Amino acid sequence: MSISARDAAVVWHPFSQMQLDSPVPAIVRGEGALLYDEQGRSYVDAISSWWVNLHGHAHPHISDCIAAQLEKLHQVIFAGFTHEPAVELSERLLAILPSNQSRVFFSDDGSTAVEAALKICVQYWGNKAQPRRRFVAFKDGYHGDTFGAMAVGGRGLFVQHYAEMLFEVSHVDPPHPGREQESVEQLAKLLDRGDVCAFIFEPLLQGVAGMRLHSAAGLDQMMQLCREAGVPTIADEILTGFGRTGRNFACNYLTEKPDLICLSKGLTGGTLPMGITTASNPIYERFLSDSRERAFLHGHSYTANPLACAAALASLDLLLAAECREQLARISEAQSVFLTKLQHTKLARNPRALGTVAAFEIGDDPAYGSQARDKILKFFLGQGLLIRPLGNTIYLLPPYCIQNADLERAQAACLRLASQGLP
Ligand SMILES: Cc1ncc(COP(=O)(O)O)c(C=O)c1O
Repeated sequence: MSISARDAAVVWHPFSQMQLDSPVPAIVRGEGALLYDEQGRSYVDAISSWWVNLHGHAHPHISDCIAAQLEKLHQVIFAGFTHEPAVELSERLLAILPSNQSRVFFSDDGSTAVEAALKICVQYWGNKAQPRRRFVAFKDGYHGDTFGAMAVGGRGLFVQHYAEMLFEVSHVDPPHPGREQESVEQLAKLLDRGDVCAFIFEPLLQGVAGMRLHSAAGLDQMMQLCREAGVPTIADEILTGFGRTGRNFACNYLTEKPDLICLSKGLTGGTLPMGITTASNPIYERFLSDSRERAFLHGHSYTANPLACAAALASLDLLLAAECREQLARISEAQSVFLTKLQHTKLARNPRALGTVAAFEIGDDPAYGSQARDKILKFFLGQGLLIRPLGNTIYLLPPYCIQNADLERAQAACLRLASQGLP
């Protein structure tokens, strides 16, 4: 029996209506930007496998570094012990993150990196003996699927069954170009209440909302208001981190510096799960005390797993090498040429690009579960392209190693769809 058929009998997939979405192709091998299924068909991974892969599948340098770590230490409790891969990774990340970041807290994935950031902010105020609970977040944001992360996210399809269980959050409009002042005023009004605990946002690019862009100048103004009010800011760079926007971090487009930063996805180059929350010194220092009650009593069994740290270090080697800088420039350039072409098609709406990411809408049904969305997904898969639309938003977010010919093939399929519609 094929792997696909065996899967259909026993596996429950994420974000899937199993009655409609099964069976699925079984991937047996990956190399560079290509994935191969059990039938020998290949797919160009034009969305970096849910935005995690940076340097291609089964990259030999990352494999070698994980293999070397496998010889030494697989896992050790991270409370009361440490290990060199975690220390080196912390040192090297802090060296490239905004200069106010001073401490690295490890977790398991994007959602848990966000949970840690939220809890740190709540306790920051608790430790100051000025309890505050109100979070401010962007409308339609996405920060993960655990309860705290859901609460600060948008209140749409993904959370409808749990909406009444989520803590109250004040949502403001992201500073869309031309409407920055509205967002600044919404935030200012909330800050005036004197009860805001923290402001969390996806900087410049809201991924799950549909690869929506907003203005760096507007976000800077909002962060400045928070700084003046003494309210911590949390930049969720889980999607935008590690080069996606053309710079190492989306925060590199800002003049303000966030107090906390959440990282995951590309952190390990897309090999092993890991999350990180970094914090500035004023946040960290609020937890220092003679009393254990003020400590951040939070963690996960696999915190700072040495194999994941080794993968992250190897991925950083590649990210900071000259070859990757050339790849980022090459893809960014190709995406801006693609953008111009999209602008001349009949059907592409709101084409946009930032760094290595390009997106547009097609049709007018934005529903995640719409039939059009299913047809678009099939249209691309049939051509050996892994392009998974977000509702009616189609986007390309490739690994940096993608060959020009593969990127051009993905772009050409998008342009065909944007010119002629679905066949
Ligand atoms: C901006 C952002 N934050 C958090 C998450 C959650 O990450 P994870 O799926 O690893 O829990 C995601 C996932 O797509 C994301 O895009």
